[in-house]
Amino acid sequence: MTGTLRPLPTTGAVTGVFEAVGFFRDPDFASRRFQEFGDVFETTLIGQRLVFIRGEQAIRDLFDQSDAVQGWWPKSVQTLLGSRSLANRNGAAHKARRRVVGQLFATAALRRYSPSIVAMVDGLADELLQSDADVALADRMRRFAFAVIATTVLGLDGDDRDALFTDFEIWTKALFSVPLAIPGSPFARALEARSRLLNRLQTVLQEADGRRGGLDLLSGGLDEAGVPLTDEDLVEQLLLLLFAGYETTASSLSCLMRALLLHQELMPWLQEELDQLTWPPQDDPTSAFDPNRAPRLQALSSEVMRMTPPVGGFFRQTIEPITLANVEIPAGRVIQVALAASNRQGDGDLETFRPQRHLDGSSQPMLLPFGGGERVCLGKALAELEIRLMTVGLLKRVRFSPVSGQNLDLQLIPSPSPKDGLMVSSAPR
Ligand code: HEM
Repeated sequence: MTGTLRPLPTTGAVTGVFEAVGFFRDPDFASRRFQEFGDVFETTLIGQRLVFIRGEQAIRDLFDQSDAVQGWWPKSVQTLLGSRSLANRNGAAHKARRRVVGQLFATAALRRYSPSIVAMVDGLADELLQSDADVALADRMRRFAFAVIATTVLGLDGDDRDALFTDFEIWTKALFSVPLAIPGSPFARALEARSRLLNRLQTVLQEADGRRGGLDLLSGGLDEAGVPLTDEDLVEQLLLLLFAGYETTASSLSCLMRALLLHQELMPWLQEELDQLTWPPQDDPTSAFDPNRAPRLQALSSEVMRMTPPVGGFFRQTIEPITLANVEIPAGRVIQVALAASNRQGDGDLETFRPQRHLDGSSQPMLLPFGGGERVCLGKALAELEIRLMTVGLLKRVRFSPVSGQNLDLQLIPSPSPKDGLMVSSAPR
């Protein structure tokens, strides 16, 4: 690090009530303040001080000082995920659980899942082609992303999966709510749903036998002291997977399809590449459409992640004073890494959707849609596989037309998703 150290700029907000209204209503909330205060500033959102950071230097500095920070989540998320969840753990306890859960996303595991993912994509293409009515594609992407985790990874089917989904939706609604368990409140209902979810996941774990899903891969997993992880511990890791892998993947798929409908000039460009690919994949589906064989698809996906990142930001808390982009941050501060704002920072046409930038060397901001450092996304390889198989499979079989008159704007929370559900009609390609 070079340059003169600066004290932390602050917006001067005290209670943070108005700041919170802006944060939830104004998509440019962070960008505006970055422009005024620089790449690192502090504000207050309803009593919670938050240091916002953007840009390559500040984010790299943060990853380089990982011993001086720890994971952080708002109290509601912390409680609903549970104290055993690796999201709420740090140091050796966090690492040990990452090692265990990471086995679910190793290449061998992805090879095991891929026939079922290919079958789901084909099932969806059949359904779309048989439907005379217009279909909300975003809803289908959500169902697909949930089914991949619930059926393909956890091995649930039929009624079990539907019951899990119902409770999961109740649980999700209270994730960013006031964490007071007043009877009848969303948070109280989410706590009840949580205990049903954990019971169900516990049963699934006990029945795991390698015939369905990947949970057998977790057996023998050890904690930081070399002691086998208890079932209570493992089920909280499984709940985290539903939380982390569902909305995010559904969002990236919906936003990718939306981008193709909004920028129809991209379709012939992508089609040239799709024409060289075979569906269903002839060889190993985990590599059939990888960035070497499908660079345009990869560029399209990167541009979707740049313009509409499924995770707009993530948190850390300082346990010692640190310096980010030459700005001094005291100990005990919560940091929000503003990915969405970082992705549009710089010179040139960064407000334009242009996948080709990732192929012609003109892409400048560092892209980190899956985070980085010790907490980098555990499901990255699975998410990327889902995106590749869904995009190639659907687009090689189905031609979509957007239903006119719908609102294609995005709602941004919890993850970007088209407001009217991305209504399309389908025809065979
Ligand atoms: C396009 C889809 C996805 C995106 C953009 C995404 C993004 C992210 C990001 C940015 C983080 C870092 C959070 C932090 O640093 O605090 C993260 C963490 C995580 N992701 Fe993903 N994710 C996606 C899909 C998935 C999937 C499919 C799974 C698993 C089924 C998954 C599991 C996880 C887990 C377990 C963590 C926590 C890692 C830790 O705290 O050590 N993600 N993800």
